[in-house]
Amino acid sequence: KSTVEEELIAAIRNIPDYPKPGIVFRDITTLLGNPRAFRRAVDELVHPYAGIGVAKVAGIEARGFILGGAMAHQLSTGFVPIRKKGKLPHETVRIAYSLEYGVDEMEMHKDAVKPGEKVILVDDLIATGGTAEAAVKLLRQMGADIVAACFVIDLPGLGGRRKLEALGVEVRTLISFEGD
Ligand code: PRP
Ligand code: MG
Repeated sequence: KSTVEEELIAAIRNIPDYPKPGIVFRDITTLLGNPRAFRRAVDELVHPYAGIGVAKVAGIEARGFILGGAMAHQLSTGFVPIRKKGKLPHETVRIAYSLEYGVDEMEMHKDAVKPGEKVILVDDLIATGGTAEAAVKLLRQMGADIVAACFVIDLPGLGGRRKLEALGVEVRTLISFEGD
């Protein structure tokens, strides 16, 4: 394991039996609160994408906003919020996606990306990939060219990476927790 991976893993707080018995919740608030670890995570996320003409970083509500805002600043790109339904004031595109129990919907402003713009998608974690898949579909509906989807944490046992790769999306994750 590289030192970056070790540093990020050490900065994440593990909460056993949250939100329900048998689940280990990977809490990134400790990583965000650690100046060195937060910078390392953002540096790692952005480093392949400097100078390649990325127009926007799109972050998925809520934790993807924190990482995506920092990434957009560092890459000197715009930022696009992909939000839970009912939060965006202008004309939107909307898509339903599956959660563990039931479904929800997310939205993006129709004019948030222009056709052909290079976009990096980011969220804190990919599990089943349902959330990120929905975000990919919204971005593509508006003509975005998705360069990559990036996550700090992969839970590879839940198959999210394969789901995105099946859509032709390049996936980058910084650390993974097997067996979750
Ligand atoms: C968590 C996480 C990802 C998503 C991953 O968000 O932050 O966004 O789940 O799950 P999936 O790959 O199985 O779709 P959550 O839905 O808890 O919402 P939040 O980020 O607003 O807290
Ligand atoms: Mg989330």
